[in-house]
Amino acid sequence: MSIAYLNGIFIKPDEPAIPIDERGHQFGDGIYEVMRFYNGKPFMLDEHLDRLFQSASAIRLKLQQDREALKQIIYELVNRSGMTNLDVYIQITRGIASRNHLFPDCPVSIAMTAKPFREIPAEAREEGASGMLHPDERWENCYIKSLNLLPNILAKQAAYEQGCLEAILVRNGQVTEGTSSNVYMVKQSTIFTTPLSKHILSGITRIAVKAIAEDLAIPFVERYFTPDELLQADEVFVTSTTLEIMPIVRFDGDRQILDGKPGPIANALYDRFKRITE
Ligand code: PDD
Repeated sequence: MSIAYLNGIFIKPDEPAIPIDERGHQFGDGIYEVMRFYNGKPFMLDEHLDRLFQSASAIRLKLQQDREALKQIIYELVNRSGMTNLDVYIQITRGIASRNHLFPDCPVSIAMTAKPFREIPAEAREEGASGMLHPDERWENCYIKSLNLLPNILAKQAAYEQGCLEAILVRNGQVTEGTSSNVYMVKQSTIFTTPLSKHILSGITRIAVKAIAEDLAIPFVERYFTPDELLQADEVFVTSTTLEIMPIVRFDGDRQILDGKPGPIANALYDRFKRITE
């Protein structure tokens, strides 16, 4: 059963609960995380919490709760949900205070939800998805998992309206990442992905994919590439907690990547990923 947590109480996710003065609502003044539980076990929980604390510190948001306290809330939420395969979203904001841009003197506000995850059907994975190139109109600090997602939402909606799963963002002539995923291309059996910087989120699935590639002895190179290189790659795929590893086989409706089918490297990575998470 889907369930939510807000500042000490457990509620239904659709229950009215956020006050108008909540700074997440007023300003998007907060950060978030998304993590997945497989068979009752969290996948890379510590890495997600590391990133949560890094995002908090980057926006000078001071949590009263430490890592252990957050873990306890997460585990209690998951236990109460009774589910074993689920996504946990955590939103932490600068609290509830009368509207004023300056930092308020109040405790942070913590919201969480536990919801069953939407499994991507095997046929959809075997077919692969479409992508769309889109200008990266976000701010300079995309390494922060901030609640401010307007440019991501607009780009994702534009992609959806063109029948595409994901918009691949381009800044200064280079591919950065997807609206909610990291991007990779394969050329001559080598995986290329954008290097970590302030302009992309350090994906937790990216960490897992890098480790799997090393394990499978597939070269993994972190360097910038252009949209043209991407379109001429042997394979393209995106990764995220919710998409896991998803092949992109076509761009902008008609530009096929190689033969328009998921390639052997994305498939090999996904097979290993699936075995780890099962
Ligand atoms: N998004 N880049 C961006 C901009 C993201 O929003 C995400 C994740 C990723 C991949 O990160 P990870 O592998 O840790 O999920 C990269 C989540 C799924 C979301 O916003 O729902």
